Amino acid sequence: MPYMASECQRKGKMVEDQKRKLLMVLALLLLPSSAQSGNTDRRTEHHCMDFQRASFLGGRKLKVQFLLFTSLSPSCGELISADDGIKNCSFNSSLETKIIIHGFRALGTKPSWIEGLVQAILHTWQVNVIAVDWVYGSTGAYPSAVENVTQLALAISQFISKLLALGVSETSIHIIGVSLGAHVGGLVGHFHGGRLGWITALDPAGPKYTRASPEERLDPGDALFVEAIHTDADNFGIRIPVGHIDYFVNGGKDQPGCPRFISAGLLEQAGVNMSRLPQEVKVFLMTSPSAPFCVYHSLVEFQLQKKRNRVTSIEISFSSNSTKDTAKITIPKDQETGKRLLAHRVPLCQINSVTLKYIPKNLFWSKDEPSIVGKFCVAPLPLNSSRTMSCLPWSLTLPSKTDISYELPTACA
Ligand SMILES: *[C@@H]1O[C@H](CO)[C@@H](O)[C@H](O)[C@H]1NC(C)=O
Ligand SMILES: *[C@@H]1O[C@H](CO)[C@@H](O)[C@H](O)[C@H]1NC(C)=O
Ligand SMILES: *[C@@H]1O[C@H](CO)[C@@H](O)[C@H](O)[C@H]1NC(C)=O
Ligand SMILES: *[C@@H]1O[C@H](CO)[C@@H](O)[C@H](O)[C@H]1NC(C)=O
Ligand SMILES: *[C@@H]1O[C@H](CO)[C@@H](O)[C@H](O)[C@H]1NC(C)=O
Ligand SMILES: *[C@@H]1O[C@H](CO)[C@@H](O)[C@H](O)[C@H]1NC(C)=O
Repeated sequence: MPYMASECQRKGKMVEDQKRKLLMVLALLLLPSSAQSGNTDRRTEHHCMDFQRASFLGGRKLKVQFLLFTSLSPSCGELISADDGIKNCSFNSSLETKIIIHGFRALGTKPSWIEGLVQAILHTWQVNVIAVDWVYGSTGAYPSAVENVTQLALAISQFISKLLALGVSETSIHIIGVSLGAHVGGLVGHFHGGRLGWITALDPAGPKYTRASPEERLDPGDALFVEAIHTDADNFGIRIPVGHIDYFVNGGKDQPGCPRFISAGLLEQAGVNMSRLPQEVKVFLMTSPSAPFCVYHSLVEFQLQKKRNRVTSIEISFSSNSTKDTAKITIPKDQETGKRLLAHRVPLCQINSVTLKYIPKNLFWSKDEPSIVGKFCVAPLPLNSSRTMSCLPWSLTLPSKTDISYELPTACA
């Protein structure tokens, strides 16, 4: 059978965010030769739809296309009409949905990496992959592509609303936005009240966005979990952090072994100017492309009992019998909650204790509060659909600059 189309499902969804696998997908992309070792699909191509080809002088219509790829046909795009709903297609609403949004395309051509990314995802997960083709709006001059972003985000948002109407849950939607597409993803997330599951920004664009307000650009409020992988912060990439977690990958150096927290020297080499970063900058994590799988990741969160009128920094360390791994949660001014990814070398269930240390922000003219009160929670990644975090069951009082340790009650499965 050349092509399989099935009635869209109206079942409940099953979300299996597999974060580690995303890293694997990214590694496949970072190593182009291995990306090619994925699936090859031998289906006949005549039913398959491809990206459009826009001329940079051409028409002035956005002409957004949504192309669906599934594991049944990983290299054959199925055009989904946003107008008459997703009535007769291979979309499976029981599965998670990944929506890929490309960025500026000066010449109106299809991004060369789309196929590799789609295949790497489908090689790794059983999901619906939807590639958004907006080559018509993305062509010409960069500023005019930027001007089309809001309209595009509305079109994608309407499309997602149609998926939601099929019974798809908001948390099962994962937007992968590249460059300018990262900010489009942010706007789409904003239109959905920050309730979509996950946004991954690959090399989020800098020009016209570095000084934009959080409403205009990608920010942590745009989804339950927002992460950004910066690979071009010295050129077209954005220099400021835009997610709960921002990775600044040093593309050049291949380090065997585990991710490391990198020093400000390294940051300068990676094109990141420390002195220009705003205060809510968190820890920079470098993942070695050759061995990204050797650490475990947990999302750690601290909720203040009372908002503060200055930035709050809390150092979090996970200790096991033989390891101690640390990250710093930063809670922006006038906000209650700060989140951070903590990379640790043993599984969460082998972590015996968590140590919290509140680092006050003393200013010349006023000392910070001597202690803070709040709640600490942790969830191993990948997050699953219920997205429950385990919390230490009391309000913690953290005196300044003092290590306070608690047992971490997480049992091995
Ligand atoms: C995209 O932006 C350009 C530049 O502002 C504008 O001329 C064009 O009409 C826009 N396209 C759409 C579909 O809005
Ligand atoms: C659904 O798709 C199948 C296969 O492409 C086609 O034969 C059928 O007519 C379509 N049904 C509707 C209602 O569009
Ligand atoms: C949709 O996905 C679920 C979960 O993997 C699977 O059990 C079901 O068979 C799929 N439905 C179709 C029509 O492929
Ligand atoms: C970093 O930014 C600061 C402030 O904008 C500037 O003074 C400094 O020269 C920059 N350093 C580098 C290496 O670009
Ligand atoms: C850690 O040390 C304790 C006491 O020596 C031992 O009972 C426990 O099995 C060790 N845990 C691991 C994961 O090695
Ligand atoms: C989600 O995680 C919770 C806590 O880790 C676990 O109890 C639950 O079984 C998980 N649910 C799924 C669907 O994996």
